[in-house]
Amino acid sequence: MENLSRRGVLSLGVALGLVGVADGAKAWAWPSADSVAGAGTGADPEYVWDSATDPLMAALLENGSVPSINTAMAGWVNNADPLPGGFPAELTAHLRQVNRLPSWADRTKLTRAADFNRRRDTYLFMLYGLGSGIMSTVIPREARSVYWSAGGADMQDRAAKTFTFGYDLSQLKAFEPTGQFVVTANKTRLVHAAVRHLLPRSPHWTSGADQDIPISAADILVTFHSLGTYVRSKLIEWKVPFPAADQEAFLHSWQVALHLLGVPDEYIPKTWAAAEAQSAQVLTPILAPTTEGIKLAEELLGLTAQIDLGVTRGFLNEFVRYVLSDEVGDWLGLRRDPVAAALVRTAWPAYIKFREGLSPIMPGTFYLVDQFVRALAMLFLNKGSSGATTPITIPTGNRPG
Ligand code: HEM
Repeated sequence: MENLSRRGVLSLGVALGLVGVADGAKAWAWPSADSVAGAGTGADPEYVWDSATDPLMAALLENGSVPSINTAMAGWVNNADPLPGGFPAELTAHLRQVNRLPSWADRTKLTRAADFNRRRDTYLFMLYGLGSGIMSTVIPREARSVYWSAGGADMQDRAAKTFTFGYDLSQLKAFEPTGQFVVTANKTRLVHAAVRHLLPRSPHWTSGADQDIPISAADILVTFHSLGTYVRSKLIEWKVPFPAADQEAFLHSWQVALHLLGVPDEYIPKTWAAAEAQSAQVLTPILAPTTEGIKLAEELLGLTAQIDLGVTRGFLNEFVRYVLSDEVGDWLGLRRDPVAAALVRTAWPAYIKFREGLSPIMPGTFYLVDQFVRALAMLFLNKGSSGATTPITIPTGNRPG
C-alpha cells in the first residue's frame, strides 16, 4: 500500500474537491460537540464497532440460523412491515430497538431530501456511480473487505445490492411507513455485523489487514464522506444550483442513514462544515491503491461497459479521471484516451450549464452526454439489469480465494 506524502494528500484532496488534510494525522481530533449528539466520550471511532449488533450476529452465524433468517428476510421490505415471524426471538428483540427513525429525525427535512434526490438524480447517478463507486476502490480497507467477502466474487450482484441502498434512500417516501429505507439500512447493518465476524476468519483478508475487525465506525464515516461529502462538494464545484435548505436536507438524510447503520450519534457531523473537517481527518489521508482495489475498479468499469452507455470505455475512463483526478486514474491504471479526455472536459461543463439554464447555447455534444447519463440512470433505475430489487442477504462465508 502506497503512503502519500502530506503534500500529495493535500493536492489529491483539492483535486477531489475535498478540503485538505487535518493536522495531527493519527489521533482522533474531531470534536463531538460538532456531532448531532452535541457531546460524546471522545473515544476514537477507529475502535468502535457495533456492540448492539455484532455479538448477536456472531451467535446467529455460529448456531447456523442465518440461512433461515435470509429466507424470512425476503418478505420484510417496507418500513411499516411487521418483523418476520421466522426471525429468532433475540433478533426480533434487537430489531424492535433499532428498526425506527432516531428521535432527532426531521420528517420535513427528509421529505425535502427525497425531493432533492429526485430533482438532482442525473448528477447524483454520475457522482455516486462513477465518483464514489470508483473512489471506494482506492479506500484500502473498503476495497480489501469488499474483495475478500463473499460478495466480492460476484461484483455484478454486489453492485445491484448496493444500488438497492441508494435507490431506497432516494425514493420520495424513503423514510415513510410505505418506504423501504429503514429496513434496507437495518439489513445492511446486519450484513456489516456478519462481515465483522467472518472476515477475520479469512486468511486472505488478515494477511493485509491493519485492523483486527473490519468496518469500524470510523470506516463507515470514511465511506459516508466518499459518498455524501464528496457529492456535495462536486455539485458546488460544478456550480449546480444547490440552495442551503437542499444542502441541509441532503445532509440530514445521510445523518439518519448513518444512525441506522449503527454509527453512534457522537460521530455523526451536525453541519457540512463539521463533515468537511471530519472528512479531512479520516478520508483524504487514507486514499491509496491496493491490488484488490485495482481489480475491483476494473470489474466495476467492465460491468458498466457491458451495458451500452453509448460511449467507449475510453470515455468512461476519462470521466472517472475527470471526477476523481488523474492521480487516482493512474493508481487504477485507467488507460488514457486523449480525445475522450478533451471531450469530457469541455462537454460536461457545457452540458451542466445548458441544463441548468446558465447558458442558452446547446452544446453540440449535448445528445452524446445526455445519452450517457440516461443509460447510467436507467441502469440505476432498473436496479441493476433484472428490473427487480436485488434482495440484500447476510453472508455466511468469505470469498474462497
Ligand atoms: C455490504 C452499504 C460502509 C464493507 C453492504 C451492503 C450495503 C452496504 C447496501 C449490502 C449489499 C451487499 O451485500 O453488497 C454501505 C454503506 C456504507 C458502508 C451505505 C457507509 C455509508 C462499509 C464499509 C466497509 C463495508 C466502511 C468496509 C470497510 C462491506 C462488505 C459488505 C457490505 C464487506 C458485504 C459484501 C458481501 O455480501 O459479502 N454495504 N456500506 N461497507 N459492506 Fe458496506
